[in-house]
Amino acid sequence: MAEMIRKSSVDEVVNHLILAGTCILLMITGYAFLFHVEIIGALFGGFNTMKTVHNWLGVAFILSLLYSLHHYLIDALEYDADDLQWFKVAGGYLSHKVKVPPMGKYNPGQKLYYLAVVVFGMTITISGFGLWFFQSNATVMLYSHLIHNISFCVFVIAVPVHIYLGTLANPGTFQIMVNGMMPLKDAQKKHPKWIKAIGKM
Ligand code: HEM
Repeated sequence: MAEMIRKSSVDEVVNHLILAGTCILLMITGYAFLFHVEIIGALFGGFNTMKTVHNWLGVAFILSLLYSLHHYLIDALEYDADDLQWFKVAGGYLSHKVKVPPMGKYNPGQKLYYLAVVVFGMTITISGFGLWFFQSNATVMLYSHLIHNISFCVFVIAVPVHIYLGTLANPGTFQIMVNGMMPLKDAQKKHPKWIKAIGKM
């Protein structure tokens, strides 16, 4: 059997499941509010109950997002020359002829995705609290709706791309989400700088 290496700790796997689960349910219920989708409302016993579920999922989502900071933030803020070169060749996604530079634990696309999740996760949560607690203030409601909806649009685009890249586009990657492990051989190929740093190369 192929030798495996741990890419995500159990802590990271569990928190990612909470982040992903809450985020997807928030997107589904948010979509149902936006377009008044009766059938989704009915699944939650009506729009009023769905609103309560949505609000508390938002609390779980932001707690999970804040907790994730110590997992990914430092990595997501560090870019070296190889990372900049990665942008120039678009990560090799547009052509197989380009040479993709050696990567660390996360590629710059994943790092930027994380930063986007942090920034828009904050704006969607803060505006969500505005909608929850300031219903009698028309100005707060107006800006909160605007910011909540713009942030929602970002998630609607970014999350499906992330899911596609973590599943169909990169076979084998999904396993990291489930048990945190990946084959050492794949890691040596995809993340040589990380593997060198932990002395497995
Ligand atoms: C069911 C849906 C999802 C799937 C299948 C999925 C899949 C994955 C996989 C396989 C990884 C590991 C990638 C690696 O280490 O190379 C990952 C990492 C990550 N995921 Fe997800 N994910 C999902 C939903 C989400 C959602 C909704 C969010 C945030 C709102 C999210 C945020 C992250 C972050 C921050 C990381 C670590 C850094 C990165 O890869 O950008 N994921 N995901």
